[in-house]
Amino acid sequence: MPHLSINSQTVEFQPGQTILDLCEALSINIPTLCHLAGTTPTGTCGVCLVEEAKAGMVKACSTPAEAGLEIRTHGVAVREARKKAIEALVATGNHNCGVAGAMTESFTDFQMDAGDMEASYDLCPVWGDCRLQDLVYEYQARTGLFDSGWKKEVPDVANPMIVRDFSRCIGCGRCVKACNEVQVNLAIDMDRSNGRDVVATKEGNGLVESNCVFCGECIQACPVGALVEKKAQNQWRPWEIEKIRTTCPYCGVGCQQWLHVKDEKIVKVTGVEEGAPNKGRLCVKGRFGYDFIYSDERIKRPVIRENGEFKEVSWDHALDYTADRLKAIIDESGPDALAGVSCARSINEDSYQMQKLFRAVFKTNNIDHCART
Ligand code: SF4
Ligand code: SF4
Ligand code: SF4
Ligand code: FES
Repeated sequence: MPHLSINSQTVEFQPGQTILDLCEALSINIPTLCHLAGTTPTGTCGVCLVEEAKAGMVKACSTPAEAGLEIRTHGVAVREARKKAIEALVATGNHNCGVAGAMTESFTDFQMDAGDMEASYDLCPVWGDCRLQDLVYEYQARTGLFDSGWKKEVPDVANPMIVRDFSRCIGCGRCVKACNEVQVNLAIDMDRSNGRDVVATKEGNGLVESNCVFCGECIQACPVGALVEKKAQNQWRPWEIEKIRTTCPYCGVGCQQWLHVKDEKIVKVTGVEEGAPNKGRLCVKGRFGYDFIYSDERIKRPVIRENGEFKEVSWDHALDYTADRLKAIIDESGPDALAGVSCARSINEDSYQMQKLFRAVFKTNNIDHCART
């Protein structure tokens, strides 16, 4: 098997593996930003640099393993090269990390005001939950080193679910990979027509008019504050959040979710990256459709319709009433006069019991499930 060396250790590899793949297998920590697991590398950010004896600095995420390479993953030169890449990224946009530059009011007033403004570009909505900010700290990178000519843009808040603030976009391309290669929705791409990488819909129109199905995968992939959930914006800080793993209740796929809960209220939902079957992916319902839990219109007690009006009753009354009606229908017209449809939002075990009730107790095969198709 071909081999190379990493930090003087001989490492065998399979064709198609990258330096990053090998380092991950060896538990060597290489910082990454634009890399999105399972997609083709873009190599845009440069923070995964490692040193090769002959070639110099190479990007671990996009450099294929080759026999004879001699890789060093740490050292002053590697650290400095990564730091420069991080400083270049920070200089591309509005990465103030909530530091209120020329403000005249107190920091608290500034934060409160900025948090109240939906389209504020002063307070970054992902402060404390940003991969770039983490790297700036880890590598002690300096900000504002040079003027890249970026211009302040008021965040686009027109969309009901997604806030896009391209003054914080670092052009990493992860959202494009997430849309085109993970979800295969083919809604967005990198537009380079103005000499700068800008994320745009394929047709150049708005998200609503595009192929976008509002799955929000691009938000989950964005490592900075350029794409955020509108409902979650400025509502929480990472240390206030309890993450609870659960199964999406909407359909029979059973996607694994993280509920981000603050003060016993869900403020955001993300997919569990390592969890089958969805591997981090969610659809629009699973990601954004959690408000119903808090609706005043939720039916929390059994109701029976009498004379066209719904009347709240006890569980005992509702169960007795239902059993009596089912028995009466069977007595009058036979078991095939009944039909049951199990809800896809039920768990497997409940649906199993539903068909058992119809087949074994009522003696009819008239049982179906709304996720069957
Ligand atoms: S996107 Fe990240 S680096 Fe940029 S301002 Fe927000 S927290 Fe800071
Ligand atoms: S929400 Fe989904 S479909 Fe729309 S741009 Fe993002 S990843 Fe693509
Ligand atoms: S919007 Fe986010 S994920 Fe997309 S290119 Fe910009 S920084 Fe990267
Ligand atoms: S993670 Fe390798 S270039 Fe971005």
